[in-house]
Amino acid sequence: MGIETNEFDFENRIMNTGYNATEDSDADASLRPKRLDEYIGQEKVKENLKIYIEAAKLRNDPLDHVLLYGPPGLGKTTLSNIIASEMGVNIRITSGPAIEKQGDLAAILTNLNEGDVLFIDEIHRLSRSIEEILYPAMEDYALDIIIGKGPAARSIRIDLPRFTLIGATTRAGQMTTPLRDRFGVILKLELYTPEELASIVRRNAGILEMQITDDGAIEIASRSRGTPRIANRLLKRVRDFAQVKGDGAINSDIANYALNRLEIDALGLDNVDRRMLETIIKFYDGGPVGLETLAATVGEEAVTLEDMYEPYLMQIGFLNRTPRGRCVTRMAYEHLGLPYRASIPSQEEQLKLFDDIPPKS
Ligand code: ADE
Repeated sequence: MGIETNEFDFENRIMNTGYNATEDSDADASLRPKRLDEYIGQEKVKENLKIYIEAAKLRNDPLDHVLLYGPPGLGKTTLSNIIASEMGVNIRITSGPAIEKQGDLAAILTNLNEGDVLFIDEIHRLSRSIEEILYPAMEDYALDIIIGKGPAARSIRIDLPRFTLIGATTRAGQMTTPLRDRFGVILKLELYTPEELASIVRRNAGILEMQITDDGAIEIASRSRGTPRIANRLLKRVRDFAQVKGDGAINSDIANYALNRLEIDALGLDNVDRRMLETIIKFYDGGPVGLETLAATVGEEAVTLEDMYEPYLMQIGFLNRTPRGRCVTRMAYEHLGLPYRASIPSQEEQLKLFDDIPPKS
């Protein structure tokens, strides 16, 4: 399938990607590392990327298309900007939901220069008809356009400059297989360790000209749920407390005081995390409970719980995803100070157990 010409104004190729990457709450551009060597953590991803970038440059080729996936706030946009600067090319930034019509994507693609990076955030939210424009663009650097309508319609092909598509998603599983298969490089970003986050906090405190002790950095890092975006946000809030309640410098005491005031506990759990765990324990006997049911009870969207809350709760061993639903572990009960009860099968499940008993003959 191609593009209907009336969707796309060839006279007026406006590069309006309809997306503002700086909407990100962690948009403080000064904090974002610009080169791979400045980027802390994600060691495996970085090592492999270095090789792919060097090889592409040696061959004078654009970098192969890259898919970055993992929970939000781990630096997918930052890494994409770094890839573009390491390759010495420009980057165009847009997002799946911002591309509404085939013509929108066609306009973006035809405005790229040789070697440019096109970054599509939330790529799993592209519509199927737009994905179909991407297939020949990714594979053959070509745009298929249908001119006219009905029996007289004919297809022409326009060559595009060779470019690199970087797709970012929090949910690779929701992407269609044909789209996923067209990425030559697929990289999974992992939650950061507290030590890596402490290095990021120290680096960023330095850029923001704040005084911070190692203990202070560790305190913030270990309460940031493995996520640099959260660490940077907490750093700024702790600075507020340090300036108003202290002498401006951050140590573990002021960090601890500020984070307690923000109701972030020793493991970084906030109100939503605790409400989620307590809901499963109090209303569903520790689980299993389906995600949609849980989300409705907690009053959050299912995708928010799934993307933003569950990865960390699973990583610290507080939550399990099972085929029958979400279950809280003994460690979570202990952390919340609640008496542990192994989950009791529901009435329906108990009746099912009887089904398995063969009748007496
Ligand atoms: N700021 C946010 N994420 C970072 C990272 N991974 N490395 C260095 N600084 C950062």
